[in-house]
Amino acid sequence: MWHSLRSGIQSRRKRTKNIAPSIPASAAPETQHAALTIASHTVPSTFNPPHQTQHGHVTTPDFYVHPSSIVDPGAKIGKGTKIWHFCHIGPEAVIGERCSLGQNVYVGKAKIGNGVKIQNNVSVYDEVEIEDEVFCGPSMVFTNVYNPRAAIPRKDQYRKTLVKKGATIGANATIVCGVTLGEYCFIGAGAVVNRDVKPYALMLGVPARQAGWMSQSGERIPLSISGSGEYLCKKTTRRYILEGENLTSSKIQS
Ligand SMILES: CC(C)(COP(=O)(O)OP(=O)(O)OC[C@H]1O[C@@H](n2cnc3c(N)ncnc32)[C@H](O)[C@@H]1OP(=O)(O)O)[C@@H](O)C(=O)NCCC(=O)NCCS
Repeated sequence: MWHSLRSGIQSRRKRTKNIAPSIPASAAPETQHAALTIASHTVPSTFNPPHQTQHGHVTTPDFYVHPSSIVDPGAKIGKGTKIWHFCHIGPEAVIGERCSLGQNVYVGKAKIGNGVKIQNNVSVYDEVEIEDEVFCGPSMVFTNVYNPRAAIPRKDQYRKTLVKKGATIGANATIVCGVTLGEYCFIGAGAVVNRDVKPYALMLGVPARQAGWMSQSGERIPLSISGSGEYLCKKTTRRYILEGENLTSSKIQS
């Protein structure tokens, strides 16, 4: 399925080379994004339908949008990003390069870095910021109002959520707004996170508690939660150093 769809896209790309015009360079401003820079393309107001092929697939040389999805004019989408079925990308969304957005993903006024994977049924609401190479598992939940009431508008009280580089959020986890998930932290399936998470921390349960440490390659690091110690990962040639309650990592020089 994946393979045939991919080759379908590629062959359509070849077929429609002259039908789907590229977005002009003037519509591709550099967008500053916290710790990263996204060279993204602003979707022009004429995006839909002129960039669609006769089958409705949006195939620009820069990114792919399945015809069942809606991308509002003004959205910025980076090169190589794929937006699959039944997604809605709002006009103020900023999405980086090489991202994959699975089925039924919504992106509001949010920033998404490069190489981010968002699995099915995830809403990235206003005031959520996701750095590079973050994995958002299926049906995980972001929030942006801390204490919602239907009768009381709280659009001016959104709390920011920041997900730092390389973090993983497991399936069905919930992130209560206002927190920062540290670099390469790992949120287990079904966890409810309501506090900041340290880099490399493995968080499990409801509410989420630290159960250990997770390496950049997603494997358990055999160090206690606090104290001092060192772990060398031979596979990735990284050194992890525990000092007090924090873990840091660096590449081993060869
Ligand atoms: C956290 C995870 C990676 C397992 O890590 P692990 O180091 O192999 O952990 P273990 O399976 O050895 O479990 C260690 C303990 O944590 C518990 N545990 C593991 N995952 C848990 C979770 N998500 N929530 C609560 N407890 C969990 C285990 O029951 C075990 O408890 P015990 O010591 O009392 O028996 C895995 O459970 C997980 O949540 N993966 C995310 C999967 C996912 O969402 N994928 C999305 C893409 S499809």
